[in-house]
Amino acid sequence: MKLTSRSVSLIPLVATVSAAVLGASLIVTATANAATTLGAAAAQSGRYFGTAVAANKLGDSTYTGILNREFDMVTAENEMKMDATEPNQNQFSYGNADRIVNQARNQGKRVRGHALAWHSQQPGWMQNMSGTALRNAMLNHVTQVATYYRGKIYAWDVVNEAFADGSGGGRRDSNLQRTGNDWIEAAFRAARAADPGAKLCYNDYNTDDWSHAKTQAVYRMVQDFKSRGVPIDCVGLQSHFNSNSPVPSNYQTTLQNFANLGVDVQITELDIEGSGSTQAQNYQRVTQACLAVARCTGITVWGIRDTDSWRASGTPLLFDGSGAKKAAYNSVLDALNAGGPGPTTTTTTTTTSNGPGPGGCTASVSLNQWNGGFVATVKVTAGSSALRGWSVATTLSNGTVTGSWSANRSGTSGAITWSNVDYNANVPAGQSTEFGFQGNGSGAGLNPACTAS
Ligand code: XIL
Repeated sequence: MKLTSRSVSLIPLVATVSAAVLGASLIVTATANAATTLGAAAAQSGRYFGTAVAANKLGDSTYTGILNREFDMVTAENEMKMDATEPNQNQFSYGNADRIVNQARNQGKRVRGHALAWHSQQPGWMQNMSGTALRNAMLNHVTQVATYYRGKIYAWDVVNEAFADGSGGGRRDSNLQRTGNDWIEAAFRAARAADPGAKLCYNDYNTDDWSHAKTQAVYRMVQDFKSRGVPIDCVGLQSHFNSNSPVPSNYQTTLQNFANLGVDVQITELDIEGSGSTQAQNYQRVTQACLAVARCTGITVWGIRDTDSWRASGTPLLFDGSGAKKAAYNSVLDALNAGGPGPTTTTTTTTTSNGPGPGGCTASVSLNQWNGGFVATVKVTAGSSALRGWSVATTLSNGTVTGSWSANRSGTSGAITWSNVDYNANVPAGQSTEFGFQGNGSGAGLNPACTAS
Protein backbone atom coordinates (compact mmCIF):
# COMPACT_ATOMS: atom_id res chain seq x y z
CA MET A 1 0.00 0.00 0.00
CA LYS A 2 1.31 3.40 -0.95
CA LEU A 3 1.93 5.82 1.89
CA THR A 4 0.66 9.31 1.35
CA SER A 5 2.54 12.29 2.71
CA ARG A 6 -0.40 12.79 5.06
CA SER A 7 -0.10 9.35 6.56
CA VAL A 8 3.69 9.59 6.81
CA SER A 9 3.33 12.72 8.90
CA LEU A 10 1.29 10.71 11.40
CA ILE A 11 4.14 8.49 12.45
CA PRO A 12 5.00 10.55 15.59
CA LEU A 13 1.47 9.71 16.75
CA VAL A 14 2.49 6.07 17.16
CA ALA A 15 4.87 6.86 19.99
CA THR A 16 2.39 9.08 21.80
CA VAL A 17 -0.52 6.68 21.60
CA SER A 18 1.54 3.58 22.41
CA ALA A 19 2.78 5.15 25.60
CA ALA A 20 -0.75 6.03 26.63
CA VAL A 21 -2.24 2.57 25.97
CA LEU A 22 -0.31 0.47 28.39
CA GLY A 23 -0.17 -3.20 27.63
CA ALA A 24 -2.12 -2.79 24.43
CA SER A 25 -1.00 -3.50 20.93
CA LEU A 26 -1.34 -0.74 18.42
CA ILE A 27 -1.27 -0.75 14.66
CA VAL A 28 -1.32 2.35 12.53
CA THR A 29 -2.28 1.64 8.96
CA ALA A 30 -1.64 4.11 6.22
CA THR A 31 -4.52 5.29 4.10
CA ALA A 32 -4.04 4.65 0.41
CA ASN A 33 -4.55 7.58 -1.90
CA ALA A 34 -7.41 6.14 -3.89
CA ALA A 35 -9.94 3.56 -2.82
CA THR A 36 -10.99 1.14 -5.54
CA THR A 37 -14.62 0.46 -4.62
CA LEU A 38 -17.57 2.78 -4.05
CA GLY A 39 -18.08 1.69 -0.44
CA ALA A 40 -14.42 2.07 0.50
CA ALA A 41 -14.18 5.42 -1.29
CA ALA A 42 -17.26 6.76 0.51
CA ALA A 43 -16.01 5.43 3.86
CA GLN A 44 -12.96 7.67 3.62
CA SER A 45 -15.19 10.56 4.63
CA GLY A 46 -17.40 8.49 6.95
CA ARG A 47 -20.15 8.04 4.38
CA TYR A 48 -21.72 4.90 2.94
CA PHE A 49 -22.47 3.93 -0.65
CA GLY A 50 -25.47 1.68 -1.06
CA THR A 51 -27.72 0.04 -3.61
CA ALA A 52 -31.24 -1.30 -3.87
CA VAL A 53 -31.27 -5.10 -3.92
CA ALA A 54 -33.91 -7.51 -5.24
CA ALA A 55 -34.15 -10.83 -3.39
CA ASN A 56 -34.78 -12.79 -6.59
CA LYS A 57 -31.42 -11.69 -8.00
CA LEU A 58 -29.27 -12.89 -5.11
CA GLY A 59 -28.63 -16.15 -6.98
CA ASP A 60 -27.09 -14.25 -9.91
CA SER A 61 -23.36 -14.42 -9.27
CA THR A 62 -22.52 -11.40 -11.43
CA TYR A 63 -25.05 -9.35 -9.48
CA THR A 64 -23.97 -10.61 -6.07
CA GLY A 65 -20.31 -10.24 -6.99
CA ILE A 66 -20.74 -6.53 -7.71
CA LEU A 67 -22.97 -6.10 -4.66
CA ASN A 68 -20.44 -7.64 -2.31
CA ARG A 69 -17.48 -5.83 -3.82
CA GLU A 70 -18.81 -2.30 -4.21
CA PHE A 71 -21.56 -1.47 -1.73
CA ASP A 72 -21.68 -1.17 2.06
CA MET A 73 -25.38 -0.30 2.50
CA VAL A 74 -28.40 -2.16 1.15
CA THR A 75 -32.07 -1.25 0.61
CA ALA A 76 -34.67 -3.88 -0.25
CA GLU A 77 -36.12 -2.68 -3.56
CA ASN A 78 -39.62 -4.05 -2.84
CA GLU A 79 -39.39 -6.71 -0.13
CA MET A 80 -39.98 -4.53 2.95
CA LYS A 81 -42.94 -2.63 1.52
CA MET A 82 -46.37 -2.99 3.10
CA ASP A 83 -47.77 -5.41 0.51
CA ALA A 84 -44.73 -7.68 0.90
CA THR A 85 -44.52 -7.71 4.69
CA GLU A 86 -48.24 -7.82 5.60
CA PRO A 87 -50.02 -9.51 2.67
CA ASN A 88 -52.99 -10.36 4.90
CA GLN A 89 -53.96 -8.22 7.85
CA ASN A 90 -51.91 -9.24 10.89
CA GLN A 91 -50.11 -11.98 8.97
CA PHE A 92 -46.57 -10.89 8.46
CA SER A 93 -44.25 -12.29 5.85
CA TYR A 94 -40.54 -11.58 6.02
CA GLY A 95 -38.95 -14.32 3.93
CA ASN A 96 -37.67 -12.24 1.01
CA ALA A 97 -36.78 -9.26 3.17
CA ASP A 98 -34.84 -11.55 5.49
CA ARG A 99 -32.87 -12.98 2.58
CA ILE A 100 -31.70 -9.46 1.74
CA VAL A 101 -31.03 -8.48 5.36
CA ASN A 102 -29.13 -11.68 6.11
CA GLN A 103 -27.06 -11.48 2.95
CA ALA A 104 -26.15 -7.87 3.75
CA ARG A 105 -25.30 -8.53 7.38
CA ASN A 106 -23.26 -11.63 6.56
CA GLN A 107 -21.19 -9.41 4.31
CA GLY A 108 -20.83 -6.71 6.98
CA LYS A 109 -23.14 -4.29 5.20
CA ARG A 110 -25.76 -2.11 6.86
CA VAL A 111 -29.41 -1.94 5.83
CA ARG A 112 -31.78 0.93 5.10
CA GLY A 113 -35.39 -0.08 5.74
CA HIS A 114 -37.85 0.92 3.01
CA ALA A 115 -40.68 1.72 3.66
CA LEU A 116 -43.05 1.49 6.64
CA ALA A 117 -45.97 3.65 5.44
CA TRP A 118 -46.76 4.67 1.87
CA HIS A 119 -49.84 5.29 -0.27
CA SER A 120 -48.44 2.93 -2.90
CA GLN A 121 -47.74 -0.82 -2.85
CA GLN A 122 -50.29 -1.30 -0.10
CA PRO A 123 -51.76 -4.78 0.33
CA GLY A 124 -55.27 -5.15 -1.09
CA TRP A 125 -56.91 -5.36 2.33
CA MET A 126 -55.46 -1.98 3.29
CA GLN A 127 -56.33 -0.19 0.06
CA ASN A 128 -60.01 -0.46 0.91
CA MET A 129 -59.74 0.71 4.49
CA SER A 130 -60.33 4.18 5.90
CA GLY A 131 -60.69 6.17 9.10
CA THR A 132 -59.73 4.82 12.50
CA ALA A 133 -59.47 1.24 11.26
CA LEU A 134 -56.89 2.27 8.67
CA ARG A 135 -54.99 4.50 11.10
CA ASN A 136 -54.74 1.63 13.58
CA ALA A 137 -53.79 -0.86 10.89
CA MET A 138 -51.03 1.47 9.66
CA LEU A 139 -49.67 2.01 13.19
CA ASN A 140 -49.80 -1.72 13.87
CA HIS A 141 -47.87 -2.33 10.66
CA VAL A 142 -45.19 0.23 11.58
CA THR A 143 -44.87 -1.24 15.07
CA GLN A 144 -44.76 -4.87 13.97
CA VAL A 145 -42.26 -4.46 11.15
CA ALA A 146 -39.95 -2.05 12.98
CA THR A 147 -40.03 -4.34 16.03
CA TYR A 148 -39.24 -7.41 13.94
CA TYR A 149 -36.17 -5.69 12.48
CA ARG A 150 -35.23 -3.85 15.67
CA GLY A 151 -31.48 -3.41 15.95
CA LYS A 152 -30.82 -4.43 12.33
CA ILE A 153 -31.76 -1.25 10.49
CA TYR A 154 -29.50 1.78 10.12
CA ALA A 155 -32.33 4.04 8.96
CA TRP A 156 -36.01 3.51 8.19
CA ASP A 157 -37.95 5.36 5.54
CA VAL A 158 -40.87 5.68 7.95
CA VAL A 159 -43.11 7.57 5.55
CA ASN A 160 -42.62 7.67 1.79
CA GLU A 161 -43.97 10.18 -0.75
CA ALA A 162 -46.64 11.92 1.36
CA PHE A 163 -46.50 15.28 -0.45
CA ALA A 164 -48.22 16.32 -3.65
CA ASP A 165 -46.41 17.31 -6.83
CA GLY A 166 -47.03 20.66 -8.44
CA SER A 167 -47.25 24.17 -7.13
CA GLY A 168 -49.71 23.70 -4.28
CA GLY A 169 -47.19 22.63 -1.68
CA GLY A 170 -49.61 20.39 0.18
CA ARG A 171 -50.04 16.79 1.17
CA ARG A 172 -50.80 14.11 -1.38
CA ASP A 173 -54.35 12.85 -1.17
CA SER A 174 -54.40 9.21 -0.08
CA ASN A 175 -56.32 6.89 2.18
CA LEU A 176 -53.63 7.45 4.82
CA GLN A 177 -53.81 11.24 4.50
CA ARG A 178 -57.59 11.08 4.90
CA THR A 179 -57.12 9.52 8.35
CA GLY A 180 -55.91 12.95 9.53
CA ASN A 181 -52.98 15.27 8.94
CA ASP A 182 -51.14 13.87 11.95
CA TRP A 183 -50.73 10.44 10.36
CA ILE A 184 -47.08 11.11 9.52
CA GLU A 185 -46.02 12.09 13.02
CA ALA A 186 -48.03 9.21 14.46
CA ALA A 187 -46.05 6.84 12.22
CA PHE A 188 -42.74 8.36 13.32
CA ARG A 189 -43.64 8.04 17.01
CA ALA A 190 -44.63 4.40 16.55
CA ALA A 191 -41.38 3.68 14.70
CA ARG A 192 -39.27 5.32 17.42
CA ALA A 193 -40.99 3.29 20.13
CA ALA A 194 -40.45 0.07 18.16
CA ASP A 195 -36.78 0.59 17.25
CA PRO A 196 -35.13 3.42 19.18
CA GLY A 197 -31.77 2.66 17.54
CA ALA A 198 -32.80 3.27 13.93
CA LYS A 199 -32.60 6.66 12.31
CA LEU A 200 -36.06 7.68 11.17
CA CYS A 201 -36.33 9.32 7.74
CA TYR A 202 -38.97 11.05 5.67
CA ASN A 203 -38.36 10.04 2.02
CA ASP A 204 -39.68 11.63 -1.18
CA TYR A 205 -39.01 12.46 -4.84
CA ASN A 206 -39.10 15.85 -6.60
CA THR A 207 -37.70 17.39 -3.44
CA ASP A 208 -34.29 18.11 -5.01
CA ASP A 209 -34.93 21.62 -6.33
CA TRP A 210 -34.91 24.13 -3.50
CA SER A 211 -37.35 26.42 -5.34
CA HIS A 212 -40.05 23.78 -5.79
CA ALA A 213 -43.18 24.10 -3.69
CA LYS A 214 -42.96 20.40 -2.80
CA THR A 215 -39.41 20.81 -1.44
CA GLN A 216 -40.51 23.81 0.61
CA ALA A 217 -43.50 21.93 1.98
CA VAL A 218 -41.38 18.98 3.12
CA TYR A 219 -38.88 21.42 4.62
CA ARG A 220 -41.62 23.11 6.65
CA MET A 221 -42.87 19.75 7.92
CA VAL A 222 -39.38 18.73 9.08
CA GLN A 223 -38.89 22.14 10.68
CA ASP A 224 -42.21 21.74 12.48
CA PHE A 225 -41.35 18.19 13.61
CA LYS A 226 -38.01 19.35 15.00
CA SER A 227 -39.61 22.27 16.83
CA ARG A 228 -42.29 20.06 18.43
CA GLY A 229 -40.01 17.12 19.25
CA VAL A 230 -41.56 14.68 16.78
CA PRO A 231 -38.83 12.03 16.37
CA ILE A 232 -37.24 12.54 12.95
CA ASP A 233 -33.53 12.03 12.22
CA CYS A 234 -33.15 12.25 8.48
CA VAL A 235 -34.58 13.28 5.16
CA GLY A 236 -34.22 11.02 2.15
CA LEU A 237 -34.07 12.53 -1.31
CA GLN A 238 -34.91 9.78 -3.79
CA SER A 239 -33.23 11.70 -6.62
CA HIS A 240 -34.59 9.94 -9.69
CA PHE A 241 -33.32 12.15 -12.51
CA ASN A 242 -33.94 12.29 -16.26
CA SER A 243 -34.38 14.97 -18.91
CA ASN A 244 -37.80 15.95 -17.53
CA SER A 245 -36.43 16.08 -14.03
CA PRO A 246 -32.73 17.00 -14.28
CA VAL A 247 -30.25 17.45 -11.43
CA PRO A 248 -31.14 20.99 -10.28
CA SER A 249 -28.42 23.62 -10.06
CA ASN A 250 -29.35 24.29 -6.44
CA TYR A 251 -29.23 20.61 -5.37
CA GLN A 252 -26.43 21.18 -2.85
CA THR A 253 -28.37 24.12 -1.39
CA THR A 254 -31.34 21.82 -0.85
CA LEU A 255 -29.20 19.21 0.90
CA GLN A 256 -27.57 21.88 3.07
CA ASN A 257 -30.85 23.56 4.01
CA PHE A 258 -32.39 20.29 5.16
CA ALA A 259 -29.20 19.46 7.08
CA ASN A 260 -29.35 22.86 8.77
CA LEU A 261 -32.63 21.80 10.39
CA GLY A 262 -30.60 19.31 12.44
CA VAL A 263 -31.28 16.14 10.47
CA ASP A 264 -29.08 13.89 8.37
CA VAL A 265 -29.66 13.96 4.65
CA GLN A 266 -29.40 10.81 2.53
CA ILE A 267 -29.65 10.33 -1.21
CA THR A 268 -31.79 7.23 -1.16
CA GLU A 269 -32.73 6.06 -4.67
CA LEU A 270 -30.32 7.73 -7.06
CA ASP A 271 -30.57 7.01 -10.75
CA ILE A 272 -29.84 9.36 -13.64
CA GLU A 273 -31.02 8.44 -17.12
CA GLY A 274 -28.58 8.99 -19.98
CA SER A 275 -25.20 7.71 -21.09
CA GLY A 276 -21.55 8.58 -21.57
CA SER A 277 -19.96 11.75 -20.32
CA THR A 278 -23.22 13.68 -19.76
CA GLN A 279 -24.49 11.00 -17.43
CA ALA A 280 -21.06 10.77 -15.78
CA GLN A 281 -20.99 14.52 -15.13
CA ASN A 282 -24.45 14.45 -13.59
CA TYR A 283 -23.45 11.61 -11.28
CA GLN A 284 -20.31 13.52 -10.36
CA ARG A 285 -22.32 16.63 -9.48
CA VAL A 286 -24.67 14.70 -7.23
CA THR A 287 -21.75 12.98 -5.49
CA GLN A 288 -19.89 16.24 -4.99
CA ALA A 289 -23.00 17.91 -3.60
CA CYS A 290 -23.32 15.20 -0.95
CA LEU A 291 -19.62 15.40 -0.09
CA ALA A 292 -19.90 19.15 0.37
CA VAL A 293 -22.61 18.80 3.02
CA ALA A 294 -21.29 17.40 6.29
CA ARG A 295 -24.62 15.82 7.25
CA CYS A 296 -25.15 14.15 3.87
CA THR A 297 -24.27 10.75 5.27
CA GLY A 298 -24.51 8.53 2.21
CA ILE A 299 -25.73 7.76 -1.28
CA THR A 300 -27.79 4.78 -2.44
CA VAL A 301 -28.27 4.01 -6.14
CA TRP A 302 -31.54 2.34 -7.12
CA GLY A 303 -30.10 -0.86 -8.51
CA ILE A 304 -26.80 -2.31 -9.71
CA ARG A 305 -26.82 -2.87 -13.50
CA ASP A 306 -28.86 -0.88 -16.01
CA THR A 307 -30.86 -4.03 -16.66
CA ASP A 308 -31.78 -4.25 -12.96
CA SER A 309 -33.33 -0.77 -12.98
CA TRP A 310 -37.05 -0.02 -12.70
CA ARG A 311 -36.27 2.42 -15.53
CA ALA A 312 -34.03 0.04 -17.49
CA SER A 313 -34.66 1.70 -20.86
CA GLY A 314 -33.07 4.90 -19.54
CA THR A 315 -29.81 3.06 -18.65
CA PRO A 316 -29.66 5.10 -15.41
CA LEU A 317 -27.19 3.12 -13.27
CA LEU A 318 -23.42 2.71 -12.77
CA PHE A 319 -22.93 -0.75 -14.35
CA ASP A 320 -24.05 -1.87 -17.79
CA GLY A 321 -26.13 -4.96 -18.42
CA SER A 322 -23.07 -7.19 -18.42
CA GLY A 323 -21.87 -5.79 -15.10
CA ALA A 324 -19.08 -3.63 -16.57
CA LYS A 325 -18.30 -0.29 -14.96
CA LYS A 326 -19.65 2.69 -16.92
CA ALA A 327 -18.15 6.18 -17.22
CA ALA A 328 -20.63 7.20 -14.53
CA TYR A 329 -19.09 4.65 -12.17
CA ASN A 330 -15.62 6.13 -12.65
CA SER A 331 -16.85 9.67 -12.14
CA VAL A 332 -18.53 8.72 -8.85
CA LEU A 333 -15.48 6.80 -7.64
CA ASP A 334 -13.15 9.67 -8.55
CA ALA A 335 -15.40 12.23 -6.87
CA LEU A 336 -15.55 10.13 -3.71
CA ASN A 337 -11.78 9.74 -3.70
CA ALA A 338 -11.17 13.43 -4.29
CA GLY A 339 -13.88 15.01 -2.29
CA GLY A 340 -15.16 15.68 1.14
CA PRO A 341 -13.18 16.14 4.29
CA GLY A 342 -10.62 13.39 3.82
CA PRO A 343 -9.57 10.96 6.51
CA THR A 344 -6.52 11.85 8.52
CA THR A 345 -5.80 8.52 10.20
CA THR A 346 -6.85 4.93 10.22
CA THR A 347 -5.64 3.35 13.43
CA THR A 348 -6.38 0.13 15.21
CA THR A 349 -5.79 -0.26 18.92
CA THR A 350 -6.41 -3.43 20.84
CA THR A 351 -6.94 -3.81 24.54
CA THR A 352 -7.86 -6.86 26.54
CA SER A 353 -9.96 -7.35 29.61
CA ASN A 354 -10.84 -10.70 31.09
CA GLY A 355 -13.89 -9.58 33.04
CA PRO A 356 -16.16 -11.99 34.87
CA GLY A 357 -16.76 -14.23 31.83
CA PRO A 358 -14.60 -17.39 31.93
CA GLY A 359 -12.75 -16.91 28.64
CA GLY A 360 -12.70 -13.11 28.50
CA CYS A 361 -12.86 -11.05 25.36
CA THR A 362 -10.84 -8.49 23.45
CA ALA A 363 -11.97 -5.35 21.67
CA SER A 364 -10.23 -3.51 18.88
CA VAL A 365 -11.26 -0.32 17.15
CA SER A 366 -10.71 0.73 13.59
CA LEU A 367 -11.00 4.50 13.43
CA ASN A 368 -11.71 6.50 10.32
CA GLN A 369 -11.00 10.12 11.25
CA TRP A 370 -11.42 13.18 9.11
CA ASN A 371 -11.49 16.88 9.80
CA GLY A 372 -14.42 17.31 12.17
CA GLY A 373 -15.77 13.78 12.37
CA PHE A 374 -15.10 10.07 12.55
CA VAL A 375 -16.49 6.58 12.19
CA ALA A 376 -15.30 3.94 14.63
CA THR A 377 -15.82 0.22 14.02
CA VAL A 378 -15.27 -1.90 17.12
CA LYS A 379 -14.58 -5.61 16.88
CA VAL A 380 -15.40 -7.76 19.92
CA THR A 381 -13.64 -11.13 19.94
CA ALA A 382 -14.48 -13.92 22.35
CA GLY A 383 -11.62 -15.53 24.25
CA SER A 384 -11.31 -19.23 25.00
CA SER A 385 -15.02 -19.69 25.75
CA ALA A 386 -18.20 -18.44 24.13
CA LEU A 387 -19.64 -15.06 25.13
CA ARG A 388 -23.25 -14.89 26.34
CA GLY A 389 -23.05 -11.11 26.47
CA TRP A 390 -20.38 -8.42 26.44
CA SER A 391 -19.71 -4.80 27.15
CA VAL A 392 -17.00 -2.46 25.92
CA ALA A 393 -15.87 0.68 27.73
CA THR A 394 -14.50 3.52 25.61
CA THR A 395 -13.35 7.06 26.31
CA LEU A 396 -14.41 9.81 23.95
CA SER A 397 -12.67 12.90 25.29
CA ASN A 398 -12.96 15.28 22.36
CA GLY A 399 -15.93 14.06 20.37
CA THR A 400 -19.67 13.36 20.47
CA VAL A 401 -21.47 10.30 19.14
CA THR A 402 -24.16 11.20 16.59
CA GLY A 403 -25.23 7.68 15.65
CA SER A 404 -24.40 4.08 16.40
CA TRP A 405 -25.32 0.58 15.26
CA SER A 406 -25.41 -2.96 16.63
CA ALA A 407 -24.86 -1.99 20.30
CA ASN A 408 -26.60 -0.20 23.17
CA ARG A 409 -24.74 2.80 24.51
CA SER A 410 -24.71 4.60 27.86
CA GLY A 411 -24.05 8.10 26.57
CA THR A 412 -22.61 10.17 23.74
CA SER A 413 -19.30 11.49 25.10
CA GLY A 414 -16.71 10.93 27.81
CA ALA A 415 -16.78 7.46 29.35
CA ILE A 416 -19.25 5.41 27.28
CA THR A 417 -20.19 1.79 27.88
CA TRP A 418 -21.42 -0.19 24.90
CA SER A 419 -23.23 -3.47 25.34
CA ASN A 420 -24.53 -6.19 23.09
CA VAL A 421 -27.97 -6.11 21.51
CA ASP A 422 -30.13 -9.26 21.30
CA TYR A 423 -28.72 -10.63 18.10
CA ASN A 424 -25.00 -10.26 18.85
CA ALA A 425 -24.86 -11.32 22.52
CA ASN A 426 -23.69 -14.85 21.70
CA VAL A 427 -20.25 -15.06 20.17
CA PRO A 428 -18.59 -18.49 19.87
CA ALA A 429 -15.09 -18.93 21.35
CA GLY A 430 -12.50 -17.19 19.22
CA GLN A 431 -15.11 -15.57 16.94
CA SER A 432 -15.96 -11.89 16.55
CA THR A 433 -18.84 -9.50 16.19
CA GLU A 434 -18.76 -5.81 15.30
CA PHE A 435 -20.55 -2.64 16.28
CA GLY A 436 -19.91 0.92 15.25
CA PHE A 437 -20.59 4.56 15.77
CA GLN A 438 -20.03 7.87 14.13
CA GLY A 439 -19.47 11.22 15.71
CA ASN A 440 -18.41 14.82 15.51
CA GLY A 441 -14.99 15.93 16.67
CA SER A 442 -12.17 13.51 17.35
CA GLY A 443 -12.42 9.77 17.94
CA ALA A 444 -8.80 9.52 19.07
CA GLY A 445 -7.95 7.69 22.28
CA LEU A 446 -11.05 5.46 22.48
CA ASN A 447 -8.98 2.78 24.20
CA PRO A 448 -11.67 0.05 24.17
CA ALA A 449 -11.79 -2.43 27.05
CA CYS A 450 -13.99 -5.50 26.70
CA THR A 451 -15.73 -7.27 29.57
CA ALA A 452 -17.27 -10.70 29.06
CA SER A 453 -20.46 -11.71 30.79
C1 XIL B 1 -40.00 0.82 -7.35
C2 XIL B 1 -39.27 -0.48 -7.62
O1 XIL B 1 -37.98 -0.18 -8.09
C3 XIL B 1 -40.04 -1.29 -8.63
O2 XIL B 1 -39.46 -2.59 -8.76
C4 XIL B 1 -41.49 -1.43 -8.23
O3 XIL B 1 -42.20 -2.06 -9.25
C5 XIL B 1 -42.09 -0.08 -7.94
O4 XIL B 1 -41.32 0.59 -6.97
N1 XIL B 1 -39.96 5.45 -5.23
C6 XIL B 1 -39.76 4.52 -4.23
C7 XIL B 1 -39.39 3.14 -4.58
O5 XIL B 1 -39.77 4.89 -3.05
O6 XIL B 1 -39.92 2.21 -3.67
C8 XIL B 1 -39.85 2.78 -5.97
O7 XIL B 1 -39.35 1.48 -6.28
C9 XIL B 1 -39.38 3.81 -6.96
C10 XIL B 1 -39.95 5.17 -6.63
